[in-house]
Amino acid sequence: MASATAPGKVILVGEHAVVYGRPAIAAPVWQVVAKATIAPAAPGAGFTIVARDLGQVLQLADASEDEPLAVVARLALARLGIAHLPDWRIELHSDIPIAGGLGSGAALSTALVRAIFAQAGQTAPPAIVSELVYASERFYHGAPSGIDNTVVAYGQTIWFVKGQPPEPFTPGAPLLLAIADTGIRSPTVLTVSAVREAWLTQRQRYESIFDAIGDLVHAARRALVYGDAVTLGALFNENQAWLASIGVSCDAIEALTSAARKAGALGAKLSGAGGGGNIIALVEPTTAAAVQTALLAAGAQRVIITPIGAHTSDGLDAGQP
Ligand code: PMV
Repeated sequence: MASATAPGKVILVGEHAVVYGRPAIAAPVWQVVAKATIAPAAPGAGFTIVARDLGQVLQLADASEDEPLAVVARLALARLGIAHLPDWRIELHSDIPIAGGLGSGAALSTALVRAIFAQAGQTAPPAIVSELVYASERFYHGAPSGIDNTVVAYGQTIWFVKGQPPEPFTPGAPLLLAIADTGIRSPTVLTVSAVREAWLTQRQRYESIFDAIGDLVHAARRALVYGDAVTLGALFNENQAWLASIGVSCDAIEALTSAARKAGALGAKLSGAGGGGNIIALVEPTTAAAVQTALLAAGAQRVIITPIGAHTSDGLDAGQP
């Protein structure tokens, strides 16, 4: 029996522009996790993936080629050199909201890959996990930048530029975020393709917005490294204004970000694809409770207060082979 977990994630700054080659910074969120547990099944039972939260039971032998969990399971088995499907039953659970910008798809796939490797008596290095999960992320995202699979597989705050090795780094001071769910599910593939349509017709305007976002991401890294929360908060607000200007904000996001700021947050923005999903607000220990109350009053479905940059993990449960 083997089990493994993977965290949710937030994009701190740089979403969407990251698809067009600009840098972004993302961090894992360990308050919400996906978990995979594998147990040997009766001989001849086959390789079964049970994902109750998604309402899915997949027999790997029959699963279609466009089923993300089946794709990633096959890739992991192939990487391990396992040619014949073993008789394993895999249970997947996740408390990460689906299509909420918290990386639920990447986390499920990551937990699955790690558990398959663990059941085979091996540990999967983050770069391998990330590579395998990227292949399955294509089904959730269309043409993903790769930031979700990377931050979830590394389990650390990362500096990310598409096509380059990620740079994990540790913020110079603890950072406290309020993550608030608008309750509106917004599939990433839709917002990413809407931005692409607009970019195709107004390329110059969008390129200069992405440049401005890229510049503020560099400034955000400096602020994170120096532990300068006030500057980082202002950069969250600036990033949100650019994201609104490319049409990926919405009324619910605007309501939550402005409620957070009014209640004392240093800055607030959408996180992930936008169009709904989650917002993040930079808070301090002294303002966290008031911001949480204000977010709930403004319609947030759930608010998580989480430190960023403190916790790292290899995602393997203790006591495993
Ligand atoms: O999966 P989400 O909702 O966190 O969005 C991913 C971030 C985007 O920049 C919008 C898309 C991408 O592939 O990087």
